[in-house]
Amino acid sequence: MAAGLWQKTVSRVMGAVKSRSPGSRTLSDVRTVTLIPGDGIGPEISQAIMKIFDVAEVPIRWEERTVTAIQALSGKWIIPPEAKESMDANKIGLKGPLKTPIAAGHPSMNLLLRKTFDLYANVRPCVSIDGFKTPYSGVDLVTIRENTEGEYSGIEHVIVDGVVQSIKLITEDASRRIAEFAFEYSRNNKRSMVTAVHKANIMRMSDGLFLRKCREVAENCKDIKFTEMYLDTVCLNMVQDPSQFDVLVMPNLYGDILSDLCAGLIGGLGVTPSGNVGANGVAIFESVHGTAPDIAGMDLANPTALLLSAVMMLRHIELHSYAKKIETACFETIKDGKVLTKDLGGNSKCSEFTNEICRRVRDQD
Ligand code: IPM
Ligand code: MN
Repeated sequence: MAAGLWQKTVSRVMGAVKSRSPGSRTLSDVRTVTLIPGDGIGPEISQAIMKIFDVAEVPIRWEERTVTAIQALSGKWIIPPEAKESMDANKIGLKGPLKTPIAAGHPSMNLLLRKTFDLYANVRPCVSIDGFKTPYSGVDLVTIRENTEGEYSGIEHVIVDGVVQSIKLITEDASRRIAEFAFEYSRNNKRSMVTAVHKANIMRMSDGLFLRKCREVAENCKDIKFTEMYLDTVCLNMVQDPSQFDVLVMPNLYGDILSDLCAGLIGGLGVTPSGNVGANGVAIFESVHGTAPDIAGMDLANPTALLLSAVMMLRHIELHSYAKKIETACFETIKDGKVLTKDLGGNSKCSEFTNEICRRVRDQD
């Protein structure tokens, strides 16, 4: 992609752009967002987000779409056409958890969504939440994971009985664009250091290529500090002192694993937001926790991860004042500690926690 084009693309992502004032809004400013509630607790946490957005009078309209695994006549697994068309038109999606079968059956729909819309950057900010105690405090870092290739390419075959080969695909183009994304993200979000995470001492060719592209991009981004570190060393250093990291960029599988580790530092996947971002502003924001079928439909789920992902989405579409209002209401609710779901250490239901956030949204008006 030409340099000018990606810069334009990435600068639309979560940059510090001024908000429009609600007073100057016209009907055409109402953005339509594809909502994929998902499985298990997905529908109830999605309801919670819709309610909070309603109370905050966020100028978006939801277009709800179900995503289940379906096969085309060719046998290929695809996203259901109504969901695909909705995303094609709206460009922005919010998604709850979708169940993924283990070692059999259909492929992960979570991954198929990323692949279908070429959402090449997986962004997970891990920031300590005031008042929510974990063994770590003051954590403030972002993992940026290459989202389209690596071990997730899905190229596997049996060579002979008892021997399976799985291909880790690393390309120059995908490595360059994720490195460019990481630096542009850092610049837009006032971050000062990017660390490339790799194992190029072992996977000399594949991780070697990834690392080379990161170094090349870093050469042209002298305003941001660049460091590189082996993945195992990052894990060791991370659990000892996360404050030494800022933005970390890495291939797909490393990002999957390391982003969970980082989420653990701030209290887990129940409070960690995530965004999958592609070119031209296309993006799907999602909670990356599971579907929790054991508590589904019981009004016990914690909607925080999906809500904070929705807040990321609002920043992505430049609705900064709404993002701030909702985020503040959520963090104040957690800090106050009186109305919390079980996993956050309280006794309240999902609906009670949601109502408390709504009350705090109203209070800011
Ligand atoms: C994640 C999840 C997914 C992944 C699963 C649900 C397919 O763990 O978003 O991190 O492996 O990428
Ligand atoms: Mn994961």
